[in-house]
Amino acid sequence: MININNIHKVFNPGKANQVNAVNGITLHIKNDEFLVIVGANGSGKTTLLDMVAGSVLPGSGNIIIDGEDVTRLPDYRRSRWVARVFQNPMSGTASDLSIIDNFRLASIRTRKKGLSIGINDTFKNQVKEKISTLGLGLENKIDQPMGTLSGGQRQALTLLMSVMDSCKVLLLDEPTAALDPRSSDIVMRTAEELIRDYRLTSILITHNLKDAYNYGNRIILMGEGQILKDLNAGQKSALKQNDLFDWFG
Ligand SMILES: Nc1ncnc2c1ncn2[C@@H]1O[C@H](COP(=O)(O)OP(=O)(O)OP(=O)(O)O)[C@@H](O)[C@H]1O
Ligand SMILES: [Mg+2]
Repeated sequence: MININNIHKVFNPGKANQVNAVNGITLHIKNDEFLVIVGANGSGKTTLLDMVAGSVLPGSGNIIIDGEDVTRLPDYRRSRWVARVFQNPMSGTASDLSIIDNFRLASIRTRKKGLSIGINDTFKNQVKEKISTLGLGLENKIDQPMGTLSGGQRQALTLLMSVMDSCKVLLLDEPTAALDPRSSDIVMRTAEELIRDYRLTSILITHNLKDAYNYGNRIILMGEGQILKDLNAGQKSALKQNDLFDWFG
């Protein structure tokens, strides 16, 4: 599904503050793979994800998604394949708009302009039904502004919205970093269910080693812009939680 071939990213090349953020990464991620990325601060995790999303373009190397070379495509032209959830619950949704309006926007994100964007009862009921699967009672608050929800409620809804328009790739960059343990649990379990139900290819960046241990079917450790370890499903399930802590010495 995602083939990353020898990509590099240098920020501020030739200047005193040059950073080699990603240093020749090659990574092939299969359909249905749920890849977890761990690594120290500044090891290049977000830059790698940004290059898959298209918000940062690589200096060299290429990226193929679903058979198509997207290396030079900006992020808005990859949204057909790629959905993304950020660390900050306030990113990704419009605070002033109601929950239902946000879902409407999400569902037309990748469609051509000119299509009707009315909200009819069928759409409302579909959204309510989806939201009720979260078990947060938010299906009764769909007319409430998004900005009035807690960070955890917002992240859970953002996840649901991200799969409204048949994307194939879900990118999660520390989606629970700003959440309390209970909300984190809800968001991670929601993510896992959506990834399974919609058969998404997913990448999760996390500093939470418990989540890194519990979720996903492949794990890589990044350091200084490179892949230091890469464990497949079998190797990951043989891993003990303490082994992960040892990776960080
Ligand atoms: N736009 C930018 N301009 C200059 N340097 C950048 C830019 N983005 C990232 N960097 C640098 O690239 C390196 C990798 O950053 P990146 O954000 O990818 O790390 P990370 O592994 O996601 O870290 P964290 O765990 O703290 O989120 C860092 O040294 C960072 O300062
Ligand atoms: Mg980061």
